[in-house]
Amino acid sequence: MQTYKLNNGVEIPVIGFGTWETPNDASGAEAIKYAITQAGYTHIDTAAAYRNEESVGKAVRESGISRDKIFVTSKLWNTKRGYDNVFRAFERTMQNLQMDYLDLYLIHWPAIQSQYPDSWTQINYDTWRAMEQLYKDGKIRAIGVSNFMPHHLEPLLDKCDVVPAVNQIEVHPGYQQVEAVEFCKQKGILVEAWSPLGRGDALVNQTIMGIADRLGRTPAQVCLRWVLDKGLLPLVKSVTPTRILQNIDVFDFSLTEEDTKKIDALTDCGGMCLHPDKVTF
Ligand code: A2P
Repeated sequence: MQTYKLNNGVEIPVIGFGTWETPNDASGAEAIKYAITQAGYTHIDTAAAYRNEESVGKAVRESGISRDKIFVTSKLWNTKRGYDNVFRAFERTMQNLQMDYLDLYLIHWPAIQSQYPDSWTQINYDTWRAMEQLYKDGKIRAIGVSNFMPHHLEPLLDKCDVVPAVNQIEVHPGYQQVEAVEFCKQKGILVEAWSPLGRGDALVNQTIMGIADRLGRTPAQVCLRWVLDKGLLPLVKSVTPTRILQNIDVFDFSLTEEDTKKIDALTDCGGMCLHPDKVTF
């Protein structure tokens, strides 16, 4: 698996196996184990809020692949923001995963002005300081954020000691977030794309289906290739073996410039299109 180099020199496999909505049971663990052992994924993305960290840990252990060959990400949930809370939440995540270090730990969503009018920047900074401490203590190889727009990142970048290595945001052909992507690139922050298939909606888009037909590939593969061509890191979720195999098989074809232009011009083809300032959780 090819890698991107994060701003602290850590290498991260260019495709991650997403696990949002992967059940925390034997079937979930089996799907993750299949992804590692049969399809060759070496990067698994979970979160405390997904409530499946146990299954991720189990799948990694049972894969027979050594821990240092798998890149594991988890995320701090919104109710655990604030300096002291982060350490407790991190401990819990490590207990769930049964691991002794994490490759990447992210703040799942920024504290926002509508919920914390006077303190949102301070909350984000206090949370970040604890992430920095865990990083400096050697418990995490890289730290980052998720769902941060430029105006959430700016106050953090003004004060932080460690620049986030990653920002994981929703990106797919129907929600391209060009401004946020460009901002992160300028700051040396790698953008990870969650829901790169637009929750499946992009797969029934006529433009994408047409390109897939011409190339003899699937619409999912076209979406993933488009994300990779932008220098972003797709986190693709599936619990279906054929799709798990298909979604990593994207390194032996190219989109033409015209294909890329056509996809770039799409505006509205599904997905969640969540704006972090408008969420209620
Ligand atoms: P499933 O897990 O049942 O296989 P996204 O990553 O954009 O949120 O999309 C995830 C959704 O897309 C899941 O419902 C997943 O279904 C489905 N999916 C994943 N890979 C493919 C694929 N190659 N073809 C069609 N649907 C897919």
